[in-house]
Amino acid sequence: SLPVPNVQSFAASKDCTEIPEKYIRPELNDSILVLNGAVGQGDIPIIDLSRLHHPQHSEDEMLKLSLACEHWGFFQLINHGVPNEVIEKMKTAMGEFFQLPLEEKKAYGQPPDSAEGYGQAFVVSEDQKLDWADMYILSTNPVHGRNLKLWPTNPPTFKGALEQYSLELRKVSHVLLDSIGKSLKIDEFIVRMNYYPPCPQASKVLGLSPHSDAGALTILLQVSEVQGLQIKKNGVWLPVKPLPGAFIVNIGDIIEILSNGKYKSIEHRVMVNTEQERMSIATIHNPRFDAKVGPLPETLEKSEPYYKTISHHEYIRMLFSSKLEGKNLLDRMKL
Ligand code: SIN
Ligand code: FE2
Repeated sequence: SLPVPNVQSFAASKDCTEIPEKYIRPELNDSILVLNGAVGQGDIPIIDLSRLHHPQHSEDEMLKLSLACEHWGFFQLINHGVPNEVIEKMKTAMGEFFQLPLEEKKAYGQPPDSAEGYGQAFVVSEDQKLDWADMYILSTNPVHGRNLKLWPTNPPTFKGALEQYSLELRKVSHVLLDSIGKSLKIDEFIVRMNYYPPCPQASKVLGLSPHSDAGALTILLQVSEVQGLQIKKNGVWLPVKPLPGAFIVNIGDIIEILSNGKYKSIEHRVMVNTEQERMSIATIHNPRFDAKVGPLPETLEKSEPYYKTISHHEYIRMLFSSKLEGKNLLDRMKL
């Protein structure tokens, strides 16, 4: 990917009154009208993780989960069992990291040809519109795959906070993946911290372009109360209103492919705020590197395959050569 200007420092500078053209999204004029017309879509489903374990309720909750994955591709996860203390420490560590001077953060900048580190991902061409956000991406599992040179020593609590957080999130993802797809071998994940500075022309820019997630499953933590995430449901952009303490979970392209289209990987985007910064932490779960990406055999008993089968390695190559735009990776996998 290409080097991209830092958004946080630009947003904080005196020059930030007129927003450069490369951030302005003319298409937002139309989609705001659509949003105002949205009625009766309801809110995204809520799944109670403690019920998935419960002898009397697990069947019920499993059905709810399956319907949520089929019809929404998104749900809020409550009673997930991750201690509040672990979550709070992670939020604080992230906030402190992003408050460091730019020079200090840049020491953890993305090395060339790597998606890991501090910077921005998904920028593949000079004429591409830019997102109003900075990101910090770290691979946390498997443990031997960590590039500790990219982990900050400041704040000193960061490393421990991220280690604990990813350990807890691994447990959550195992329960969900056991319920969603028994035969998925998913044990690799990265954490992507998203920092969206305030923007004086917030309604004209996007914090994150419309995209579906390329991985298998994403578990999102909202760091502050500031909303901004929207999902595309029946052609309409629907704002997500996170419940306090809940995670927002969504199905990624890989599960749509493995389930042969039964479970949906939904497009979403992020709007930013004129006054307040917004932060979120996305934990993105991927199959092991040696896994195959294609419809699972059991999904082919009743229907034809709708997607190709390729190695995960090839899939990743495709991912790095596509820009973050709608469902374009998934379209390239269609048969
Ligand atoms: C994402 O799509 O990964 C980020 C969503 C968000 O910041 O709410
Ligand atoms: Fe996403």
